[in-house]
Amino acid sequence: MAEMTLRSEAAIGSTHERPGDPCVMVIFGASGDLTKRLLMPAIYNLACDGLLPHCFALIGTARNDMTHDSFRDQMSKDIRQFTTRDFNEPLWDEFVRNLYYLPGSFDDPDAYQRLAQLLAEVDAKHQTRGNRLFYLAVPPTVFSLIAHQLGRVGLAREEQGWSRLIVEKPFGHDRESAHNLNRELQEQWQEHQIWRIDHYLGKETVQNILAFRFANGIFEPLWNRRYVDHVQLTVAEKVGVEGRGNYYERSGVLRDMMQNHMFQMLAYVAMEPPNSFRADDIRNKKVEVLGAVHPVTPENVLTHTVRGQYSGGTMDGNIVLGYREEPDVAKDSRTETFAAVKLFIDNWRWHGVPFYLRSGKRLPSRRTEIAIQFKHAPEVLFRDTPVERLDANQLLLQIQPEQGIELAFEAKVPGPLMHLQTVRMHFEYQEAFHAARGTGYETLLYDCLSNDATLFSRSDLVDTAWKIAQPILDVWTSLPPRDFPNYPAGTSGPKDADQLIERDGRQWRRI
Ligand code: BG6
Repeated sequence: MAEMTLRSEAAIGSTHERPGDPCVMVIFGASGDLTKRLLMPAIYNLACDGLLPHCFALIGTARNDMTHDSFRDQMSKDIRQFTTRDFNEPLWDEFVRNLYYLPGSFDDPDAYQRLAQLLAEVDAKHQTRGNRLFYLAVPPTVFSLIAHQLGRVGLAREEQGWSRLIVEKPFGHDRESAHNLNRELQEQWQEHQIWRIDHYLGKETVQNILAFRFANGIFEPLWNRRYVDHVQLTVAEKVGVEGRGNYYERSGVLRDMMQNHMFQMLAYVAMEPPNSFRADDIRNKKVEVLGAVHPVTPENVLTHTVRGQYSGGTMDGNIVLGYREEPDVAKDSRTETFAAVKLFIDNWRWHGVPFYLRSGKRLPSRRTEIAIQFKHAPEVLFRDTPVERLDANQLLLQIQPEQGIELAFEAKVPGPLMHLQTVRMHFEYQEAFHAARGTGYETLLYDCLSNDATLFSRSDLVDTAWKIAQPILDVWTSLPPRDFPNYPAGTSGPKDADQLIERDGRQWRRI
């Protein structure tokens, strides 16, 4: 087959210059949701932007009995439904010829022999130079198994080209299981071959935290305990568990959102400036700052954390079920669907500054944001004026669905008397840039194809994040919640979460 060249005239929004390395990508779990909703649309978007290697092929594998042709048909149907862009028929028609399918069970050793054989054929046909990328879009219970079997048939060896393994979350269930998973993966794979993905780092607004902090001379001097009163990180979701009761029951929001996505954002907000954008420079600084998080003692778990679970309620005029009524959820489930946590970072920059994190499902709106609250100005000047109080300045990084940055400050209301009002300076991505809409996986896949591991988690970062979460999980396990469910769907979480921050004389931003 002729070398594939995919370039769209309409490629917009791409800042990268060259396509990633030639390679064959293998997706384990090719019949699953992740593949059709996110991975395939992301690969297609890379093709549209001319960022997919010219020599590229993809092998999907799963248990389902499909042929190359029926897999291509299925993907052609799915992409029309899940693409984030206008559909480019000629480009897809060319692309789809590079898809292959191999049926097989993950625990069948013969399937891996067949995979090795198919890979060799596809590699020769598409001139992919022996480069292989394995994507584990499968439940975590089979990560080790697949990694081991791939190694057994020699697919982890980097003789002709490179071989990389992308591992989805959750990476472990607790600190010990994450440690074991690492050990198991590293039996056949070296650390530089293991790419632990966190889809939050694929979001432009998350990546922009570093650009914003370190490319602008005016913010960094203020970014410390001298000027910052506290930081609030919120990931609020409107959705419930969306039919994932089985998974969620064993997870809960602390494992599902905080230990990974939120701690990653926390690291970006709080880390020291690295010397370069090289992967290890950034990753070292992230590990350093998470390593400085003050260990949450069992006593502190009681005062610095709150957990919640939603009951039934009304959202947008519709009645929604409580968590315990969702499919595959125990009637007396103790799994938390909401958590609020107060953390401190024990270093010179942040000593004494609380970081409040909260996340939950079935909250009134979908919103991910980071608010940096600065210290109050002294009030003496306004003592004998009608001004009753001075609101503190706040810098808001809006991650999603609004994507922007907002600075709130006080301004004088026009008129003869001194009255103040909080006003906002606002930057919106959509207004400033005209990037095509993506899935969030484009950059991550592109980076992996280009050997840039900056956005992927090294094993020490995963371990450090578990180290923060583990004492909380331990206390929560040993002290079952007595008040679950404790917030109705559609409200902003349990009352105790408000008290957590109000005790400190502060308030949550409204969700
Ligand atoms: C996933 C969690 O990692 O992130 C889900 O497993 C959650 O429970 C999702 O809904 C949220 O992602 P996003 O990108 O929609 O904020």
